[in-house]
Amino acid sequence: MNKKDRINLIRELEADLAYGRFVHTLNVACTATNLAMRYGVDLNQAETAGLLHDCAKCMNLSKMLKVCMKSEVPISDMEKQSTALLHSKAGAVLATEKFAVTDKDILNAIRYHTTGRPGMSLLEKIIFVSDYIEPCRDAAPNLPLVRKLAYENIDDCVLQILKDTLSYLGTTRSEVDPMTQKTYEYYKKHVEERKSYE
Ligand SMILES: [Fe+2]
Ligand SMILES: [Fe+2]
Repeated sequence: MNKKDRINLIRELEADLAYGRFVHTLNVACTATNLAMRYGVDLNQAETAGLLHDCAKCMNLSKMLKVCMKSEVPISDMEKQSTALLHSKAGAVLATEKFAVTDKDILNAIRYHTTGRPGMSLLEKIIFVSDYIEPCRDAAPNLPLVRKLAYENIDDCVLQILKDTLSYLGTTRSEVDPMTQKTYEYYKKHVEERKSYE
């Protein structure tokens, strides 16, 4: 992304998003580029995915549903009722249609930033983690540990986030998206296997 494209994109997001969400967006993009430097991921990809990860967050549920259905994106019953879940899939559609993103890795990073998924690419993990640890986040448990792990071992960090998310959802008795559970089980096994070789 050249300087002019970056400024234009940021201006559009500022117009579309509530101001707090816009600040969060800039923080995620900045955190993502930092992690990209740490893990040798393309900075441009990390910045673009970070800037666009919540691009559909300003839509209401019916608009999100419309956008996803028009593009024939499969939606679960749980997603049908939740902007917190559906904005990721709607965001990937919007990134393609409104912001002309064609890079599949960027689109997947947007699509899976809420739940994660088994076998995420490095970029996907970077966006998943950045969304959770950006500097304005203050409510999640274990944030100092999660932030430290982000720069030490990104898989350990992903696992800690999923563990904390599931335990938080357990305390509020909220329904858990099956993808979050599946992702947790995948990374638990993956990290355990790696540690058994260490
Ligand atoms: Fe989000
Ligand atoms: Fe976000």
